Amino acid sequence: MALDLITEREVKDIKDCAFYHTMDLPGHGEIKGKWDLRKNTGQYLGGIDFTDKKVLEFGPASGFLSFYMEKQGADVVSFDIGNNIEWDVVPFAQYDHTQLFKPFIEYNNQMKNAYWFSHKALESKNKTFYGAIYDIPKELGDFDVVTFCSILLHLRDPFKALCAGALHAKEKIVVTDLAEAPKVYSKNHMYDTSLLGRVKNACRVLMNKEIYQYTPASIPYFQFLPNYKTLENKDVWWYLSPQLVVNMLGVLGFEDTKIDYHEYELYDKLTPTYSIVGTRTKSAPKDWEHFLKNS
Ligand SMILES: C[S@@+](CC[C@H](N)C(=O)[O-])C[C@H]1O[C@@H](n2cnc3c(N)ncnc32)[C@H](O)[C@@H]1O
Repeated sequence: MALDLITEREVKDIKDCAFYHTMDLPGHGEIKGKWDLRKNTGQYLGGIDFTDKKVLEFGPASGFLSFYMEKQGADVVSFDIGNNIEWDVVPFAQYDHTQLFKPFIEYNNQMKNAYWFSHKALESKNKTFYGAIYDIPKELGDFDVVTFCSILLHLRDPFKALCAGALHAKEKIVVTDLAEAPKVYSKNHMYDTSLLGRVKNACRVLMNKEIYQYTPASIPYFQFLPNYKTLENKDVWWYLSPQLVVNMLGVLGFEDTKIDYHEYELYDKLTPTYSIVGTRTKSAPKDWEHFLKNS
């Protein structure tokens, strides 16, 4: 069964658009977005040669990366969340989190408008599929490269999403994410294991001050970012350490990995990011589809 991939959506007015990325659009000039990935875009995408590659981009937002890969010679399908699919917002008990869905869907719809507005201005041939990342239709087919850029941190179950994407990745998976936990958690205190350091830390605990341990990137770990006291990070679940991503990719049969670090402007401030390219070394086990359906 062939899938209905969307090839256009009429967006007449730029006022109906929310630009996640800063874009340069013919006839419209520079449009400012939250993130500016225009310098060294290739690095953000793991330094892959996209010529003649079939690419699936998960979470294109306003589409800057999908359009970039197309320009590099790729045949791109952009996959974003369907309007009828529930967002993975954090279910805080401290307030009615269900109220979050409406503004999320509205903002997301405006981002989709920005994608289609840019698609037209750039005369793009990219196709789009809107659906559920944990339940990707088999008919979407196989891709040489599958990208997960700045999306795993927003998902409650990043491993499940990676596993679902891996079933469609013949050659490579790219994961790009924040290389540092967001500000509220980055006032980390180096965990000093000397005797004096331990005494100081014990005093901080007694004084009811929080201590965040600094954990090196070489340790595979998740950091849970939602904060029930400040209600920060309503849709940002995780900091994923690079080694964690390497391990998850390895488990999924992408054992050959390369990590690269860089910085891009987020609201005009340089923000550290990492990209990991995993190359397939093992084929996907047959029981994965069962695992995905039952987990
Ligand atoms: C932070 S933006 C990333 C944009 C782009 N990939 C980049 O790196 O610049 C997150 C994207 O993931 C999408 N997204 C978030 N949750 C999703 C879900 N559950 N299923 C599919 N897409 C989702 C959003 O709609 C948005 O397009």
